[in-house]
Amino acid sequence: MALDIEHLLTTSDPTAIDSLFHEACRLRDEAYGRKVFMRGLIEISNHCKNDCLYCGIRRSNTCHRYRLTKEQILDCCRQGHALGFRTFVLQGGEDGWMTDEVLCDIVSTIRREYPDCAITLSLGERGKESFRRLREAGADRYLLRHETADSDHYSRLHPAEMSFDHRMQCLHDLRELGYQVGCGFMVGSPFQTIETLKKDIAFIADFRPEMVGIGPFIPADGTPFEHEKAGSVELTLRLLAIIRITLPHVLLPATSALGTMHPKGRELAIRAGANVVMPNLSPQDTRALYSIYNNKLSTGSEAAESAADIRARMKAIGMDVPVDRGDFLTHNL
Ligand code: 5AD
Repeated sequence: MALDIEHLLTTSDPTAIDSLFHEACRLRDEAYGRKVFMRGLIEISNHCKNDCLYCGIRRSNTCHRYRLTKEQILDCCRQGHALGFRTFVLQGGEDGWMTDEVLCDIVSTIRREYPDCAITLSLGERGKESFRRLREAGADRYLLRHETADSDHYSRLHPAEMSFDHRMQCLHDLRELGYQVGCGFMVGSPFQTIETLKKDIAFIADFRPEMVGIGPFIPADGTPFEHEKAGSVELTLRLLAIIRITLPHVLLPATSALGTMHPKGRELAIRAGANVVMPNLSPQDTRALYSIYNNKLSTGSEAAESAADIRARMKAIGMDVPVDRGDFLTHNL
């Protein structure tokens, strides 16, 4: 089916939107059944050498910086495993202290202690050799949002020293190294247009990532974009459905940014075709510090609490939450 993306993103016809969401859920259910996969998010460091204009932990923002020790990270995994998580996502800023040696030691220990779990990294841009070493240490997946598929737009969201081409290069390197790869973008980022969104969808259709993360842009205090308008929940939901229809097998999270913007944001995302949730497993005292945007969800709760809350919410809308790695399925492709 050739989608009229512009029409779907702009129409105010409720029946067109209903059938968009309906088709997205039908395709998801056909590929994976009525399942939502859980990933345990561990925010390992908020140190970052980059200065992305939108991000609350950008280099030039004065915020309290932390990094977790290997023991703290392993402790998060231990708690997460007991709660039924079979994927751990290690996410962090581009922290120079997190060398290949440091990270490979952490990844290989998790790999050894939790052979039944998938390890996902979300640590920004690195060199191909570094990606290779991490893959050999046991990482299975890598999330690196492309942020926008339009290079001019990219340069308005990032400082001059960051390059669109290098970001794209990283995504291709990760793919070549055998990672399951995730890209994605913010919805409603400054200077985004229907045209740039069409490019995002075209890029996703062409690159065929295993995972796509999208969520509304939310202004972060102390950044150049602190007074910009937040992205729309409605537009995010439509884009989730469009992505599901474009790639029926994609693993598509109902992101925390959506949950932050709307009390039922994650449920709405599942109803638009999403099939992944990522409760936070980070230690309680560091959560509030990983403030990439304002009012981020569950900054005060325990891992067990956020996991139980998400599980109950998903069950309430008729979805199973299996204890499963939730790998990308290639059958029927
Ligand atoms: N609002 C929403 N999402 C953001 N991200 C960074 N800053 C913000 C913000 N202010 C997203 C980016 C990044 C991911 C880790 O979080 O897309 O890739």
